[in-house]
Amino acid sequence: MKVIHTIAALKSLLSPIKLAKQKIALVPTMGALHKGHVSLIKEAQQHTDLVVCSIFVNPTQFTDPKDLEKYPRPLEHDIQMLKDAGCNIVFMPPVKEMYPTQEDWHIDLGPAEFVLEGEFRKGHYQGVTQIVKKLFDAVSPDIALFGEKDFQQVLMIRHMVDHFKMSVELISCPIIREDDGLAMSSRNINLTAEDRQHSLVLSAALFYIRDNFQRESIATLLTNAKAMFNAVPGVELDYFTIANGETLQPASQKSQPNLVALVAAKVGQTRLIDNMLLF
Ligand code: PAF
Repeated sequence: MKVIHTIAALKSLLSPIKLAKQKIALVPTMGALHKGHVSLIKEAQQHTDLVVCSIFVNPTQFTDPKDLEKYPRPLEHDIQMLKDAGCNIVFMPPVKEMYPTQEDWHIDLGPAEFVLEGEFRKGHYQGVTQIVKKLFDAVSPDIALFGEKDFQQVLMIRHMVDHFKMSVELISCPIIREDDGLAMSSRNINLTAEDRQHSLVLSAALFYIRDNFQRESIATLLTNAKAMFNAVPGVELDYFTIANGETLQPASQKSQPNLVALVAAKVGQTRLIDNMLLF
């Protein structure tokens, strides 16, 4: 596996691959890799000849500087994990490589930018789409893979790709869960043993919604799911919603297409998100 730090080196490495008409996949990450990321690499290998994984903790998508500072960066572990997964190239640029100059970035991502995560992390999706555009420009991948755990992120990246009419194909892959239900996330490293126990309420409430979706009304489902959070100490619910998966507006009827339950909560000092497709 090649470890690359500059866009120029990455482009010259990829150029003969493109000339040979081989297909390239990009798996963008911020590191602190887990089995969810490995599942993206494995999926990428099914579709392409070469997999590039980027590890870059992107400052422009953090609204809280303390969150950026404490974001886990277990680099040696990540590199070993990528080698074991059979990744071909890891791209790990320094901040100056991706942001050589101060730049203003703002694109229209549609009204769904401002709800749910967008409401709690203002400007977050501008930062996410800014870096993903830069990574797409550096790699020119045929496909790019993202985890469905960040449901709204996938939607925003789709909007960005449409905005710039980019030819990359986006593939979103299912959430990978621990045996007890917790969705895998780089942030789980920050959970204390007690938080880890409390964090199970997120997946438990989503499983409750999935298992009772045909039987109960949306109002009853949401009331009961939210009540599950009240019973757990140290967990602060930011939102719990059943929404249209395209607009992210709250659903009023179960017959609507593309429904998804989405949750965000602070567990101790760690903010977690999770979701469940209901279609
Ligand atoms: O999901 C992430 O890890 C990040 O938001 C991404 C897509 C790599 C952009 O920094």
